[in-house]
Amino acid sequence: FSPEKIRNFGIIAHVDHGKSTLADRLLEFTGAIKESSENKQVLDKLQVERERGITVKAQSASVVYKHKNEDYLLNLIDTPGHVDFSYEVSRSLSACQGVILLVDATQGVQAQTLANFLLSMEHGLPVIPVINKIDSPRANVEKVEQEMLNVLDVPASEIIHISAKFGQNIEKVLEAIVELLPPPVCDEKSSYDSSALLKALLFDSTYEKFRGVIANVAILDGTLRKNDIISSVYLSQKDGNSKSFYEVKEVGLMRPEHVATNVLYAGQVGYIVCGMKTVADAQIGDTLFHHKQPVIGLPEFKKAKPVVFGEMFPSEQTQYKNLEAALNRLMLNDRSVTKTSSKSFLLGPGFRIGFLGLLHMDVFCQRLQQEFGANVVMTRPTVPYKAILKANKRLQLKDETEIVISTPDDYPDNGLVKEFLQPIITGTIISPARYSQSIIELCVSRNGSAVSNSYISDATVMLQYKLPLDEIVTDFYDRLKSISSGYASFDYEEAGFETVNLTKVDVLLNGELVREFSKICTLEKSRKLGVITCSKLKEMIPRQPFQVSIQAAIGKSIIARQNLPAVKKDVLAKCGGGDFSRKMKLLQREAENQKHLRAIGNIKVPKDLFVKMLRE
Ligand code: GTP
Repeated sequence: FSPEKIRNFGIIAHVDHGKSTLADRLLEFTGAIKESSENKQVLDKLQVERERGITVKAQSASVVYKHKNEDYLLNLIDTPGHVDFSYEVSRSLSACQGVILLVDATQGVQAQTLANFLLSMEHGLPVIPVINKIDSPRANVEKVEQEMLNVLDVPASEIIHISAKFGQNIEKVLEAIVELLPPPVCDEKSSYDSSALLKALLFDSTYEKFRGVIANVAILDGTLRKNDIISSVYLSQKDGNSKSFYEVKEVGLMRPEHVATNVLYAGQVGYIVCGMKTVADAQIGDTLFHHKQPVIGLPEFKKAKPVVFGEMFPSEQTQYKNLEAALNRLMLNDRSVTKTSSKSFLLGPGFRIGFLGLLHMDVFCQRLQQEFGANVVMTRPTVPYKAILKANKRLQLKDETEIVISTPDDYPDNGLVKEFLQPIITGTIISPARYSQSIIELCVSRNGSAVSNSYISDATVMLQYKLPLDEIVTDFYDRLKSISSGYASFDYEEAGFETVNLTKVDVLLNGELVREFSKICTLEKSRKLGVITCSKLKEMIPRQPFQVSIQAAIGKSIIARQNLPAVKKDVLAKCGGGDFSRKMKLLQREAENQKHLRAIGNIKVPKDLFVKMLRE
């Protein structure tokens, strides 16, 4: 296929608007997979995707489509729809020359439709607007057209109406891809001209046990063949071009299963296996070239910035090494995750992991479990705060200095701090107008301030609010869904940092600080947090042979307190007389119970307690 006969495109949409179903129909129509009435979602390969019915990882597939008697190679890149995975969308788009923007006729434009649309504009990609689910009795095509005109500036005359479920108008979509989207732009030299220098964009990678790293590449120029010796801009910058190289062992197309073709030409999207072994080797956004024929690399991908952090520990310390290996493998497939080491004095060594959102964190842990059999303890997510420290001679701080506070351990002495800052986001909520009052109340109760409020159709509103990130990382999205009967959609982007009154609440058991239980929060929430923490601990700590005082404190001042009365425990009390074997049994059971206990000073608490408290 010469580049003019190639189209690389993505499908973008809000979650559940039917991307995967449309992808299936496109594959069926072009004969890549067998037709079937049921929704197979061939591209949703991961177990977690099938179970949750969401796309997490972008997958690609190549199909051949005959248009006006000419064969075209269409490379489809399926993309995730959820707010937490827009990093994946962005990456996929860099290998495309255009997108299909899919909107559900029963739901209309949603927050993620808008976010994905803006992302395509940022990449300068032409958009084919499509309304899906026109078969549904709940479809309201006119309303959706009005919204698409108002929010996306797309006139109704350009919109294709389809039912992905029943395969209606699928051919119109294929025709539009060929006619409206541009072919990939390669060097003036033909892709068959072997003198064109190879330039291949590495846009995704996965890991397989026996084959190692499988890199997805878009060939921008030149030709990539089996047995070629290649290097990469990243590698050559790191090690020098002459030193580091790979031999291409396998090269082919994703149809969607891997089909080795031994060669990829300019404009094509495919995969290569070349003996890359680690996460560090396969840098997403890296440019590959023929060894000793260097080219200028593409601009680097914007790195995904994690906004939610959690501490992760193996559920058994003996599994630490295995967990580390599993994390490394999974991170190869999900580049948006960051990892540093961390330590809990009760749970042992672990990791501090950064995620793009809560769903992302959930999905990542589920994948660790399902794909690598790793069981983990994950703490409640936290957001990174900042503090501006005053100049201080003793600490050798000449000027004001900014530090990041990721964990309570990083919390500085209040006297040193000029001001604390918290991360802020701008949230966009699109919802039926009848829920707007409750949504406004929710945002206000989470310290939100209104940015804008407009009608995008007669019955739909778009609200924009600035909110502290900390207020949305736990249950904001769930609350929003529940007060809007599931109709409101939400998307957000970072909006810098703002001043906040921050403090650290510590927990003391019989006067002894338990570092694990310290938490950072706003001053206004600190008292409530202290009270709740103390009463929860009182419920969870088993009574001891002595009284235990449970206190919450800010610095030296105690803000909440509970007392756990003593209990006198005589294991053999019930046993009376001289039944020796029964006595032994009771003592053994007691010893067994003790095994699951951990000591804080002389207080014994179940190991579970830590896990529960960390998750709170
Ligand atoms: P994510 O991958 O999670 O972003 O979702 P998606 O956009 O890929 O949506 P998916 O294809 O999984 O479809 C979501 C739901 O809509 C499924 O229950 C589909 O059966 C249904 N659906 C998709 N297309 C149509 C359609 O044309 N008509 C009707 N009635 N239902 C459809």
